[in-house]
Amino acid sequence: MSHTPPAATITLALSKGRIFDEIMPLLAAAGIEVLEDPEKSRKLILPTNRPEVRVVLVRASDVPTYVQYGGADMGVCGKDTLIEHSAEWGGAARSGLYLPLDLQIAKCRVSVAVRTDFDYAQAVKKGSRLKVATKYTAIAREFFASKGVHVDLIKLYGSMELAPLTGMADAIVDLVSTGNTLKANHLMEVERIMDISSHLVVNQAALKLKMAPLRRIIDAFASAIPAAS
Ligand code: PRP
Ligand code: MG
Repeated sequence: MSHTPPAATITLALSKGRIFDEIMPLLAAAGIEVLEDPEKSRKLILPTNRPEVRVVLVRASDVPTYVQYGGADMGVCGKDTLIEHSAEWGGAARSGLYLPLDLQIAKCRVSVAVRTDFDYAQAVKKGSRLKVATKYTAIAREFFASKGVHVDLIKLYGSMELAPLTGMADAIVDLVSTGNTLKANHLMEVERIMDISSHLVVNQAALKLKMAPLRRIIDAFASAIPAAS
């Protein structure tokens, strides 16, 4: 059976978890209801109540890639993911991505955290070279360069909290939401780098080819964005 969709199909790339949960009300505002629960189903292509709209489930960091290469017409991902993707491609425009909306969902922040017994301020003041473990190398590189702090970046893909605990790094750059993960691992936030929320990402070529249906979805999302808090 072929999974190549008919030309009029609209494919939306989402990741499981907070983004999926928090986009549901915006999808509802656009008249779209996802018919299967990704936490229960093993399916990666989820049907919706609208025969021409389907959802593909991808890793959060793969959302811009799916949209860029046309595997999806549009997607939702965090500003953190977009910055890291853009750094690889020399900007959103170069990668053919159109970013029409900050959806104001899945809010969190990117911060620097260290062990509670590590004197970060003193290390910075002394001009020490810091070992920083992170998945967000572009954000971390730019941030420490702007502060004039020399860093050796260690690229990780998850569980960054372990790096300072095992002595592999002095600090981490990671997402903080409730702060519970830091607390549970005896780490503390020492700098807030930026606030994060999720954005709508659209393939520019798809926008031209499927202008009317994509515009309808973009406009419905725009009118249903939660009020800034
Ligand atoms: C994220 C982030 C932190 C945690 C922050 O990890 O990397 O570890 O959530 O949330 P909190 O402040 O509410 O505790 P996540 O579990 O999403 O996955 P990861 O393995 O990709 O780091
Ligand atoms: Mg984590």
